[in-house]
Formats: sequence, structure tokens, C-alpha cells
Amino acid sequence: MAASRDAETWKDVQTYYGQVLKKSGDLQTSACVTTARLVPRHIQEALRNVHEEVTLRYYGCGLVIPECLENCWILDLGSGSGRDCYALSQLVGETGHVTGIDMTESQVEVAKKYIEYHMEKYGFQTPNVTFLHGYIEKLEEIGIKDESYDIVISNCVINLVPDKQAVLQEVYRVLKHGGELYFSDVYASLELPEEIRTHKILWGECLGGALYWKDLAVLAQKIGFCPPRLVTANLITVQNKELERVIGDCRFVSATFRLFKLPKTGPAERCQVIYNGGITGHEKELIFDANFTFKEGEIIEVDKETAAILKNSRFAQDFLIRPIGETLPTCSGCSALESKERYRESEVETQAEGEAGSMQEA
Ligand SMILES: C[S@@+](CC[C@H](N)C(=O)[O-])C[C@H]1O[C@@H](n2cnc3c(N)ncnc32)[C@H](O)[C@@H]1O
Repeated sequence: MAASRDAETWKDVQTYYGQVLKKSGDLQTSACVTTARLVPRHIQEALRNVHEEVTLRYYGCGLVIPECLENCWILDLGSGSGRDCYALSQLVGETGHVTGIDMTESQVEVAKKYIEYHMEKYGFQTPNVTFLHGYIEKLEEIGIKDESYDIVISNCVINLVPDKQAVLQEVYRVLKHGGELYFSDVYASLELPEEIRTHKILWGECLGGALYWKDLAVLAQKIGFCPPRLVTANLITVQNKELERVIGDCRFVSATFRLFKLPKTGPAERCQVIYNGGITGHEKELIFDANFTFKEGEIIEVDKETAAILKNSRFAQDFLIRPIGETLPTCSGCSALESKERYRESEVETQAEGEAGSMQEA
């Protein structure tokens, strides 16, 4: 039963992204439109270098380019025409690698067509990007191995998948310990009623399959991820009277979350941390999520979850981390700084409510 539901949804989505939509301007809502603010300059440059046809067929809802990328292996779930993959392939460098996976053949074809163009533009001898045709719920079928990626990204795709738990479970399997899923997607202010979930255009436009935002934390915990960390959220607008009628009181946001897979270690504790300013493009400050911005050289007190993430992920090399009570050693760039004694609760729920503004339960 579930298998035939999946197959039917895949067919509808493939038709929508392969035949109905030809360019981002064909969309009927702002769900698959990116309204990222304050894009760092090195990312703007990387995006500018992406081929025009690839960019024209971009349908993402957020900026899925995290920090600290050199040499990383990245997997893009539902990579479409490959815009994010090509931007990331510059940022990971020739010794890193980006794999894009999508089930819509025509989108994969557009992505593959420009591999040589981009490698030549970036001056890479060996291509560091691969595009595969396949389903993101079944990564094993296309040969994606356990613990083989540092980062998994996804831009406006998981809402299109009926079995979201299967996707997140696959992500957990293929991520290395300390790795993260950094993804933008669409969330609903309530459990969606049948009329919205079965509406073909709303599904294709990334609204009909949106997860009730509170369910993300439940799913993440069930699978073994740390609680989701909200990065940004934007309210989605619908400029179509008929779609507005079907949607009624339900509201949607596009939101970017980070989900970390950490090794099972002993109990974590609150810590003081100092960012050393070593991350490309984020030398002065690192906006980690909606709760934490780390300024170079500033002492910040963090909760145990944030401490565990910083200690056990690729960010470890960029921070001095000490349990509260121990003195942090001074470092170049830190000595003249005083403690700001800042502690902010990392409450995804509170943040999501605040950021999304109007995401209240009906
Ligand atoms: C809204 S578009 C976003 C594409 C791309 N991430 C971008 O930002 O341009 C959604 C994409 O997800 C793909 N997709 C949806 N469900 C999928 C699945 N189960 N497996 C693989 N790809 C899927 C579609 O084919 C489509 O290309």
C-alpha cells in the first residue's frame, strides 16, 4: 500500500519538475523561492559562477551552504539541476567531493551537462562532483555507503517525500559521526488535513507534503540525531486565490535546520568556548544558528548540547572549549578580550516560534 503511494507520488513529482516547470518563474507560490538574507560574499561569488541554465532551473527554498567546507564530502538530496552542488564543489575544493542525487531524469541531465564547464572554470584537473539518478529514501540502492559523508544537504525536497522517516534514517546511516544534515525545507503550522495533502499542485509546490514543524524534533530524536538547531525561517506567501482557499488557516514557513549525528560519548556538560576565527568567509563571526553567534576571540558560555556539537564535529578545530570553572588559555586574538558571560538557552521550539513569527497552532 505504502509502496504504491510512494510510486504514485514519485511519478507526479517527476512530471511537475521534469515537464510542468521549466524555470523558477513558473512556480505558483513562494515556497520554492529563496529569500536568504546576508549571504556571505564568498558564497555570493560561488553562486555567481554557476552556469545560467543550471540557475534557471533552481527551485530551492533556502541557502544550504554551511561553514567550514574545505575537503569535505557532501551529499545533496534532491539536487535538481545542480545549483547547490556546483556552488559547493568550489567551496570544498578539488580534494573535497559533492554528490547530487535526484529522481527526475531531465534535471539530472541538465546537471551532468555542465560538469566540464564548471571544472574548467574552477581550474580543477579532476571533477569533484558526481550526479546520480535515484531515490533519496533508497540511498543504498545507488551505492551510498555507511558513514561516507561529512555533510548532507537538501533544499526543498524532503517535503516532497511521503516517507520522511526513511529519508532521515538513510541520512543518519551515510553520515560520519560528527557529521550534519544542513537542510532547508517547508514546515506547516498544523498537521495538514487530507484536502491539502492530496492536492496535486500544493504537493508539487512543496506545501502539501510539509511536515508539521513540531514533528521534526520527534523524528530526529527517534532516529538518534541531536535536537534540530534552527538557522533561519521565512513565511511563505501564496498568490493564487484557489490555492489560498484550500490552504485556509494553515501557515507555512521555509526553514533551515542543522541536525548533528554525534558519537555516543559520556554525558556532556556546559562549557565556555572561544571561536578562533579560522573559518573561511566567517573570520569575524560565525552565525551558528538562531541562538548562537560566535565572534572571534569572544568567550561564550554554551549549553551541553552545543558544547557536544562543537567538540565532536568538524568545528572542533576552530574552538577552544573548556568546562565552566576551568580557565581558558589566552590565544592570539583572544588576550585582550573580556568575558561576555553570555548564556542563551538553546530551545529550538521557542526559536522556531519566534522566527517563524506567525507559526501558531490553529
Ligand atoms: C523543489 S525541487 C528542488 C531541487 C533542488 N534542490 C534545487 O534547489 O533546485 C525538488 C527536487 O527534489 C526531487 N525529488 C523529490 N522527491 C525525490 C525523491 N524521493 N528522490 C529523489 N529526488 C526527489 C525532484 O525531482 C526535484 O528535482
